Amino acid sequence: MERRAVERVRGTQDLWPADARQLEVVRRRLEEAFAGFGYRRMDVPVLEPAELHLRKSGLEIISKLYAFDDLGGRRLCLRPELTASVVRAFVAQPAPRLPVKVFSSGSVFRYERPSKGRYRQFTQSGVELFGASGALADAEIVALAMDALDRLGLVDYRVTIGHVGILGELLSKLGLTGRVRTQLLESLEETRRHGLDAIRGRLHELDPDLFDPLGDDPVERTLPAQSDGVGEEHVRASLTGLLSKMGAERLGRRSEGDIVERLLRKLRPQSHREAVERALEFMERLGGIRGEPREVLGAGRDLLQAFGLAAAPLESLDRTVHLLEAFGANFHRVQLDLGLSRGLQYYTGMVFEIDHAGLGAESQLCGGGRYDDLFRALGARAPIPALGFAFGVERVKLALEAEGRPSGEPRAADVFVIPGTPEYVPFAARVATTLRRAGKRVDLDVTGRPLKTSLNYADREGYSQVAVVGEAEARDELVRLRDMGDGREQALSLADLAREWPAEGARPPGGAQLPRAAEAGRGH
Ligand code: HAM
Repeated sequence: MERRAVERVRGTQDLWPADARQLEVVRRRLEEAFAGFGYRRMDVPVLEPAELHLRKSGLEIISKLYAFDDLGGRRLCLRPELTASVVRAFVAQPAPRLPVKVFSSGSVFRYERPSKGRYRQFTQSGVELFGASGALADAEIVALAMDALDRLGLVDYRVTIGHVGILGELLSKLGLTGRVRTQLLESLEETRRHGLDAIRGRLHELDPDLFDPLGDDPVERTLPAQSDGVGEEHVRASLTGLLSKMGAERLGRRSEGDIVERLLRKLRPQSHREAVERALEFMERLGGIRGEPREVLGAGRDLLQAFGLAAAPLESLDRTVHLLEAFGANFHRVQLDLGLSRGLQYYTGMVFEIDHAGLGAESQLCGGGRYDDLFRALGARAPIPALGFAFGVERVKLALEAEGRPSGEPRAADVFVIPGTPEYVPFAARVATTLRRAGKRVDLDVTGRPLKTSLNYADREGYSQVAVVGEAEARDELVRLRDMGDGREQALSLADLAREWPAEGARPPGGAQLPRAAEAGRGH
């Protein structure tokens, strides 16, 4: 009898040696970056109690969970991410010490609709930091994610930072709690994509009273619009009094008590409905604020003021952005988006995502943020500030392929020195040597090709800096290093560079800090 071949599960991959090795190299490079920031490896199980994710992960994850009963009748799941497992492990420790900085990597599973870059089994590699609140920890986490990509030499990525605490504050102020609050928090990003009516529809499914118009009962129509600030007992007593005054003959077949309870039921959602409408208006406006950090912070402050909210989350974002600069993050890659909420329900503060332009629809390489409430939800006695992120390793590999460097081999050099015209070749050689002795890895363009071709080549190869040397540089005895990312120029005098040369035999291996002669602003 002929037997059919057994097929691979949809959304999983067989990796033959070349691909398996590349994925391994990418994962290792990411982990090297994590270790460079003082994070240490930990491993968590692939199998977890399903409840771990049902408690706080949110619909986005829960609806895709591979959950099943094992032979002992326990409800288990294949982990859909690593964060909840790391938190569970920490909560179970008898005498945990803070702060904790750990990284972990491994397969995770989500029942997704498979497509390019979207799998049912994929690899995450990420970090978690427990025991630090505040902007410095927020900035370190974002800076670390960027550093990891920079080490791989990725160029075409963009970081988007938001803060879910802003909407959280408004919902608390409006008294919106429970499932409606969760639904609104989860819907923030959707307001932009699908509009407010889609969210109203979802809320209606959750609580049909919420968007049910008042009935056409004439008695209901004479009611005050809402019962805000008035105790329910007081309203009940007034209504009963009002109805008795109207006389039994006008009440129809229903009893006085029935009518009062029905009206109270309608009144309750009425004030609730107004709060939800206010929240939706806020969400729509918040979702429109994104772009360059300074502008976003300005527009955000105006909105918070208009809704009578404290500016604390924005001040924290402002500090995070400042600190990111201090970490040396490549700032032109960073934007703020106050409508960013991410799919996971456990985030409470700063959130961020990193996208890559070469990946098409599934462009997100990395996602993370602060989740200060997760410890309590998973059984810790006290809240513990926490944050982290995870890369999708397959997507990082795809991004490297899109940029033409499949395994993220390090670039041959940091600086590409180009002689402006043939007569400046000797000066260019001197510049290259001077930079090398000061600790830079330098590639001198020895081809004599046209300047434009050389610049295109430098762009394609992904050098961090390019120096074109010509008449002005030779006259002033300096070199102008142009950052290929943001176009900024740094002018360094050759004499200063030479003074920085370490003693013979003690030269730094590469990337040493260079003395600065002048900052020369943007562009040539
Ligand atoms: P997440 O955004 O759900 O966050 O996943 C992190 C990364 O995993 C995404 O940015 C993406 O690169 C990758 N990824 C997600 N789904 C797929 C898929 N179906 N196929 C391929 N890659 C995918 C988390 O999981 C959080 N635990 C991150 C975190 C850590 N937050 C705080 N700490």
